[in-house]
Amino acid sequence: MEALNKSFFLFLASRPSLDRFAKRWGSKFGADKIVGGESFEHAVPLIQSLNSQGLRVTVDHLGEFVASEAEARERTLECLQTIRMISAHDLNSQLSLKVTSLGLDINHDLVWENMIQIMDEARKYDVFVTIDMEDSSRTQATLDLYKALKKQYSNIGTVIQSYLYRSDQDLDDLNEVKPNLRLVKGAYKESAEVAFPAKSDVDHNLKLLIKKHLLNGNYTAIASHDDAIIQYTKELVREHGISKDQFEFQMLYGMRSERQLELLSEGYTVRVYMPYGNDWYGYFMRRLAERPANIAFALNGLLKK
Ligand code: FDA
Repeated sequence: MEALNKSFFLFLASRPSLDRFAKRWGSKFGADKIVGGESFEHAVPLIQSLNSQGLRVTVDHLGEFVASEAEARERTLECLQTIRMISAHDLNSQLSLKVTSLGLDINHDLVWENMIQIMDEARKYDVFVTIDMEDSSRTQATLDLYKALKKQYSNIGTVIQSYLYRSDQDLDDLNEVKPNLRLVKGAYKESAEVAFPAKSDVDHNLKLLIKKHLLNGNYTAIASHDDAIIQYTKELVREHGISKDQFEFQMLYGMRSERQLELLSEGYTVRVYMPYGNDWYGYFMRRLAERPANIAFALNGLLKK
């Protein structure tokens, strides 16, 4: 049943037509519990509140399925504006972005130009940028882009997904640029040709990647709500004497808020990933796919409309 739910919501997440329908319809189904508002202005007080508790943030302007150059340039301007606002409000926040929203599927020169603009602004305002990882058809292009940018900018990271067979090799290939990586299990619908079908293998591989990346001496964001992964990391760093400055835990906004504060009180760095914007559909569907319990508050939100 759980596997069926997961496939169903991941299928829905990949439908651009439903995305457009959901935006037109305008109902958020309870998405507001896990999204920081329709604009960055709405997100600012939420970020300030998280910062005041000691939590760091990374904000992501929601958006996928960008089909035109004009739209990709618009998204770029939004990123530039967000970087300036992070600085103007003195927020403890980084920026996360998806390269498909900046034109990766349209043409590579366009996404390169857009990323250079964003990275120049991010360097100027001292804001760290993470390139989120999307589905496996974009992995190579995203990593190529990341590697080229990392040679020019130190304030950039990306994401490696433990469900992909290739990820261990990707860590080795990236190591020459001393990458700053967020390690996750992976959120997209992938075939057994490219990804481990069994959750136990995905979990096991995440542990291997965490160990390898930390022992390579690289900064590591462990992005998981899974206590087994968190416990594994705590024991690993204790055993190898790895400093708390070399890693952080990350969780999604609205998920396990008490656990976030607990980790903080134990002296760990904790960062909350906060999406904002109108394009909540794909993000929301992937969260539903991950955890049936998320469906309860979604339906609750729907009934309250
Ligand atoms: P998983 O879903 O495997 O659950 C394991 C266990 O954790 C559950 O059985 C339960 O006990 C506990 N748990 C999980 N969620 C819970 C909740 N909400 N409340 C209570 N308990 C819970 N993916 C991607 O493909 N590209 C990306 O760029 C990113 N970026 C990203 C950033 C951040 C900050 C996070 C946290 C995650 C991502 N992801 C992502 C998503 C990631 O790949 C993955 O799909 C989800 O984090 C779900 O996997 P988990 O490891 O959290 O736990």
